[in-house]
Amino acid sequence: MNQSRKVYMQTLRKILEQTEANGVAVGHFNISDLVTLKAVFEAARDLNVPVIVGASEGERQFMGVRQVSALVKSLREEYDFPIFLNADHTHSLSSAIEAAKAGFDWIVFDVSTLPFEENVRQTKAAVETLKGLRPDILVEGEIGDIGSGSEIHDAAPDLRKGLTNPAEAKQFVTETGVDTLAPAVGNMHGMLKSMVAGETRKRLDIERIRAIKAEARIFMTLHGASGTDDNDLRAAIAAGITVVHINTEVRLAWRRGLDSALTTQPDEIVPYKMLPQVVDSLKRTVSARLELFSSGRRARPASHL
Ligand code: G3H
Ligand code: ZN
Repeated sequence: MNQSRKVYMQTLRKILEQTEANGVAVGHFNISDLVTLKAVFEAARDLNVPVIVGASEGERQFMGVRQVSALVKSLREEYDFPIFLNADHTHSLSSAIEAAKAGFDWIVFDVSTLPFEENVRQTKAAVETLKGLRPDILVEGEIGDIGSGSEIHDAAPDLRKGLTNPAEAKQFVTETGVDTLAPAVGNMHGMLKSMVAGETRKRLDIERIRAIKAEARIFMTLHGASGTDDNDLRAAIAAGITVVHINTEVRLAWRRGLDSALTTQPDEIVPYKMLPQVVDSLKRTVSARLELFSSGRRARPASHL
């Protein structure tokens, strides 16, 4: 095998194993356009850390399922860099199959709003079908309630009743055969206005993360991480989180960069002369999060192995 292809040939599973063994986390950032993809890729390359980009059903409908897959693949191959693509929050099997066939590395199969038994039944069927199509693909399942919408919310939903229970997590993982689990541990999709203003932060239930990890012994993804307290994120990673999803902070940085470009270059019409301001704004946000996620060094036993 050509040496220059060594890194990109590493599988996503291998990256997660190494990440967990190092006691750090991989950053996952949602994208809706080439500008955001460029910023996430450059930030990860500057720090030399693996990265995952995510595209939800709405995001990939906008970009094109095959088109976003081709873009990420082209970066991975041309730069020999570990960048991977996740079909985030996929609510139907047909949409999951479409993403798998298009070459996505990971599918978050999310039917978490269904009753637990039905969630187990549908997720198990999705795992079987997707692995049948692409044995290398990773499939994530989700239990509990973390709200929806990577947007700015007026008020927080009451998520206390939807927190993930460690015994249920173990049952879900055993019965479905998922590769990764998205639990509800105080996290919530989107940010409150007070979080955008920097007055409040999300707080996490670290003991619950530790207990779920001990029971379910599986890679865990923290969704809804925008606006989370930095120390809670560090503690969550030390307690068993291997991947952290950020979207609302990315969207905010995109909007702020665009506002700034429109204000400072009012007569400019050339996109490639304006959009670097958006890329810079995005890179600042993504780099800060990647630095935090990769700063822990507590060695954890690779309990899932
Ligand atoms: O799947 C996407 C994430 O969970 C994003 O959540 O918008 O709160 O960062 P967030
Ligand atoms: Zn999410």
